[in-house]
This record gives sequence, structure tokens and C-alpha cells, in this order.
Amino acid sequence: MAEIQLRGIEKLFDGVRVLESLDLTVHDGEFVVLLGPSGCGKTTALRIVAGLETPTAGEVHIGGRDVTRLSPRERDVAMVFQSYALYPHMSVADNIGYPLRIRGVPAPERARAVARVAHSLEVGHLLNRKPRQLSGGQRQRIALARAIIREPAAFLMDEPLSNLDAKLRVSMRGEIRRLQQRLDATTVYVTHDQAEAMTMADRVCLISNGVIQQFAPPQELFDFPANRFVAGFVGNPPMNVLDIRLDPDRQAVVVAGAAIPLGDRYAACAAAAVEQLGIRARELTLTAPDEPTTLPGSVYVVEPLGDETYVEVLIGETRVTVRADRGWTAPLGAPVGVRIDPANACFFDPSGRTVVHRVGEGRPPPKEE
Ligand SMILES: Nc1ncnc2c1ncn2[C@@H]1O[C@H](COP(=O)(O)OP(=O)(O)O)[C@@H](O)[C@H]1O
Ligand SMILES: [Mg+2]
Repeated sequence: MAEIQLRGIEKLFDGVRVLESLDLTVHDGEFVVLLGPSGCGKTTALRIVAGLETPTAGEVHIGGRDVTRLSPRERDVAMVFQSYALYPHMSVADNIGYPLRIRGVPAPERARAVARVAHSLEVGHLLNRKPRQLSGGQRQRIALARAIIREPAAFLMDEPLSNLDAKLRVSMRGEIRRLQQRLDATTVYVTHDQAEAMTMADRVCLISNGVIQQFAPPQELFDFPANRFVAGFVGNPPMNVLDIRLDPDRQAVVVAGAAIPLGDRYAACAAAAVEQLGIRARELTLTAPDEPTTLPGSVYVVEPLGDETYVEVLIGETRVTVRADRGWTAPLGAPVGVRIDPANACFFDPSGRTVVHRVGEGRPPPKEE
């Protein structure tokens, strides 16, 4: 297996910039997810790694080799697509064995490899069928089997689960992750689904408009988002963002008319002229409406999830989501207080960059870019 490096990758389509000086290293054996909204350039980046697209500028290195000008065949990577791309007229066995056939591997050896890979993906009983006789999940397994059979230097996967129903998607996440760990396979996986990225990745590379917003382990993106875009994209529900004003007299932030003392974090907030505060639903607490230093709000909607309850609260003009205990309930419009512990909040400057992070729970603070 091998390390993958993108160095200063740029891509223009008809004069329109789709990727902007992308620098990215995927370590040997690492599972990196390219995450971002539709149209942000994920597929383009993956196709550049595969050699299916030529970058306008920059270099691609795989296993220490500059492959920028090599054809896909010469790069030794296997790609898995959303559409499976199986050959409909071939049996499952022939589909899986195809990459070996075009490399001239003799039939008996090929059959042994097909049997081994099919067994590891639990599709051994399907080898004589045609793709149309398979379910979506089975087809996706065949596509994976075909990708792993020739033991490539790296796997590239573009939204491989998006055609599956929700339940199967969740179970296939785990299967792909297990397979990747067993093979210790360098993998670049593209998705627009943040839950998929969070559950599968060693590191997530979050892209917006062709620019990397943050490249870090999932927990770090969740706890220490580099900017407001990351805060709003990662996590379900997304982080709450509230407009604030600084009050130098009380060394406090003022949110919806309520002053919340910041203590020793005030100076950093003031120096960066912070304009917004970000805080997760699980860090907010519902209280009686008239408690001191709580934000005054009213219940917008209550969403019971069985094990916990999400409550949307209207604070001024802004809706925030608060996680409450199971069984929590109140009539719509009921007044409530929302308690913020500012230690759990982060603060954004006018450009949306996180300038003051939450106080970590014993985790190292994020590295400066
Ligand atoms: N072959 C192409 N020709 C022109 N524009 C393209 C081509 N491929 C992609 N694009 C454009 O590049 C942008 C990024 O596309 P893509 O990489 O497919 O995004 P994603 O996979 O993140 O949804 C989009 O605006 C898309 O329309
Ligand atoms: Mg895409």
C-alpha cells in the first residue's frame, strides 16, 4: 500500500476554478474522507488522483512516485463508484475477476483469487448470477470485490453507498471500514454525508468551493471547528450559532439581552472583535424562564427521539437546538431559559474564522494552520 499526495492541485473547467491549490497527504494505510456539499469539487479531486482527469496545475504522488502524467492503468489504484459499474452481461465471478483477466492472469489462478475475495465479502454463493439478479447491497459488494482482487496501492471510492437504502447504508459503512482495516488499505472516500464521514474516517478533509476548510480527525472537527462553515456542516444537529455583542464593563458577551461573563477568555474575544458564538446542543441546558444569566427563549418545537429529546428554542430571532432528557416536554411557545456554559462555546470573528476555541475536555488544543 502507499501514501497519496496532492501538491498544489488546481483545476479549471472552461476557465472556472473548481479546485484551488489543494495540498493533501493521505498516509499509508489511512482512511481519508473528502467531505463537502454537492459541487464543491470532491469527485474532481478523486478523478485527478485516479488519473481520469488532468489537473491544471500541481502534482499527484502515489507511493513516492510522481504519477501526474501517468494513465489510470499505470497508477495502480482501484476505484469504486456510486453506480457500481458492473458489466451486465457477465456473471458475478467474471465481473470480480475482470481486472485480473485484462492483466493476463491465467484462468485457474484467477478462479482461486475470485473465490478468496468472494468469500471474504460473503458473496461466494452469488458467483454464477448476473448483476441484474442482485440487490443493490449485493451489487455494491461485487464492486468492492472487483476493486480489492488485484491488491492495488490505494482505493478510491466515490459515494459508493448513496444508491442504497438508509439501513443498508449504515451497515455497509461498517463493512467497508472493517475491510479497509483488514487490508490496511490506503483509501480516499468521497461523500457529502457528514455522518458517513464521521463514522468511517481516520481523518476528514472538509471542502467548500474547492478549498480545504479543515483536515483533521473527526472528533477534532466536531470539537474544534476551524470556522463557521465547519461548525455548521459537521455534527447532527449542527452547531448553534448566535449573534453576540461584547460588554467590556462586565467582561461578558451579551446574547439576546442576557450578559454571560467570559472570565479570562474575554481578552482574546475582544482582541479578535468576535461577532458570533458557536455551541452544540448537548452543551446547552434548559432552565426555568427567569433564572439569572440564562438566555430568555420560548419553545419552538419539541422533537422526542426516544432516548433523548431535541428542543428548538426561539431566542430573539434565532432558533437554537438544545438537547434535553428523554420525556422532556412543554407546550409550544412556553417560556424557557437556556443556560450556556461559555467554556463550551467557541467564538467566530467577522470573517467566520474560529478565533477562540472551547476549553477542551483534556484534549490537546487544535494546531494552528
Ligand atoms: N467535466 C466537467 N466539465 C465542466 N465542469 C465540470 C466537469 N466536472 C465537474 N464540473 C464542475 O465542477 C464542480 C465540481 O464538481 P464535482 O467535482 O463533481 O463536485 P462534487 O463531487 O463535490 O459534487 C461543479 O461545479 C461541476 O459542475
Ligand atoms: Mg461527486
